[in-house]
Amino acid sequence: MIDFHSHILPQMDDGSNDVNESLQMLNLSYNMGIDTMISTSHYYVEHESIDAFLKKREEAYRLLLSNINGTDALPNILLGAEVAFFTGISREKDISRLCIENTKCLLLEMPFCCWSSLIIKEVQGLTTRGITPIIAHIEKFFPYQHKTNRIDELLNLDVFVQANAESIIQKECRRLVLKMIRNGTVHLLGSDCHNMLDRPPNLEYACKMIEKRLGSRFLKEIDHNGRRCLQSNTRRVPSTLSPV
Ligand SMILES: [Fe+2]
Repeated sequence: MIDFHSHILPQMDDGSNDVNESLQMLNLSYNMGIDTMISTSHYYVEHESIDAFLKKREEAYRLLLSNINGTDALPNILLGAEVAFFTGISREKDISRLCIENTKCLLLEMPFCCWSSLIIKEVQGLTTRGITPIIAHIEKFFPYQHKTNRIDELLNLDVFVQANAESIIQKECRRLVLKMIRNGTVHLLGSDCHNMLDRPPNLEYACKMIEKRLGSRFLKEIDHNGRRCLQSNTRRVPSTLSPV
């Protein structure tokens, strides 16, 4: 399984505090059956330039690599970013540099507010540039879009949609996320792990819940979606599964 959302690089953001914690997070993930971790440190345009972010990310990554023993059992790491939406994102010439390495896929954190049509248009603008946004933890935005159809407008774009493991493990959002997995509107999972204490790697528990509630074919489909996403340049294609 691929973890599409994690904050494992040391001292990059509010995630891992140091190399030792990063290694523990990676090791726990590996023991949970994660073969690939997408490292998605927060990127906020108002805090730093893309150049500065990428330089800092490279240094954190090198520091981590220099502390990995060749015999450590760890997942593969692919570098990306969790890019907070900003006005003008669709016109930012360097935005594709924040895509998951070797792909055109960009983990996008939508704003925590009621979305305007302009916000949806900006996301659409990314897709017309050949970038495939991965909408981070979609379930967190439902309360803000109450009595609008913005969620549907977003899901109708050429995007991948990611949900957090925690939202499946905890009861509050479980029904919503399982429904979205069942009807093919959630495609990818992430732990959104930040540390080893209160936001540790947890994807295994969510996978077990999906298997129990929906059956293993949905887990396979999520894994398949992830592999296809990483192979891209491909754009999203509809689920091969029929709803149950
Ligand atoms: Fe995150």
